Amino acid sequence: MMRGFTDIHHHLLYGVDDGAQSLQMSLKMAQRAYRGGTRTIIATPHVTPGVEQIDEEKFHKRLEEIHAACRQAGMDLRLLLGAEILYTDMTCRLLSEGRVPTLAGTEYVLVEFMPGVRYDALYKALEGILRAGFLPVVAHVERYACLASSPRRAAMLKDELEGVLFQMNNSTILGGRGFFSDLHTRRMLEESLIDITASDAHNLRERPTRMHEAYAKLKEDYDDIYAANLTGMSQNDEFWKAIASAR
Ligand SMILES: [Fe+2]
Repeated sequence: MMRGFTDIHHHLLYGVDDGAQSLQMSLKMAQRAYRGGTRTIIATPHVTPGVEQIDEEKFHKRLEEIHAACRQAGMDLRLLLGAEILYTDMTCRLLSEGRVPTLAGTEYVLVEFMPGVRYDALYKALEGILRAGFLPVVAHVERYACLASSPRRAAMLKDELEGVLFQMNNSTILGGRGFFSDLHTRRMLEESLIDITASDAHNLRERPTRMHEAYAKLKEDYDDIYAANLTGMSQNDEFWKAIASAR
C-alpha cells in the first residue's frame, strides 16, 4: 500500500485565515494534494494566542465537513487538525491549558515567528515551549534571518535545545521563492538541519502543495532516504511515528 506524503503545514480550512476561502476551494486544494501523492494533511490555520480567540470547535467542524467532501469525491485522505501558532507571550500558558491546537493532538506544535525575530528571543521562546512540555516545530525556518544567515547558529540551537525540529517550505526547496539565497537553503539541507518539508499551501496558485516535486528534488540532490524522511514517506523517527498514530 502506498503510504504517500504527509503534509504537516497546510491552510486547508476555509474561512478561518488567509488560506482557503470556500468549501469548494478546500476540496480543490485537497484534490491537488491527493493527485500529487499526499495521503495525510494536517490543517494548520493561523492562530495568535492571547490576541485572537481560538475557536477549536469551529476548526474541527470545518475539518469534518472537508473530510466528508473528500470521501464523497473518492479520496482516501487522512485529515488531522493542527495550528500554525504565531508565538506570543501567552503561547506557553495557553498551550499548557490545552487551549491551543497542537499537531494532531500530539506534543508537537507548529510555531512561527516574525521574520526579523532576534536570535535570543527565538531561543528563549523555544526553550519556554520545551519547558512547558511541548516539542516545537519551527515553521518555515528559512524565513528567519537570524537562523538562515548562519547555518552554524541554527545547528547550535538544535544541539542546545534538544527536541526542536525545523520545517522548510517546499517552495524554498524547489527554489525561486525563498526568502534567502539558495546557498543557505542548500547548506541547511546538506547539514541535515531540516527535519520536515511541507507545503504551507494557502490556495491553488501561491505555495500550492508540491510535495511530490519537493520529494523528487530532494531525492535527486541528496538521497532517497533523506527525501523520504523529510516528506513523511518513511515513518522511522519519533515525529512521524507520533503523527502516524494520532487520531
Ligand atoms: Fe503557514
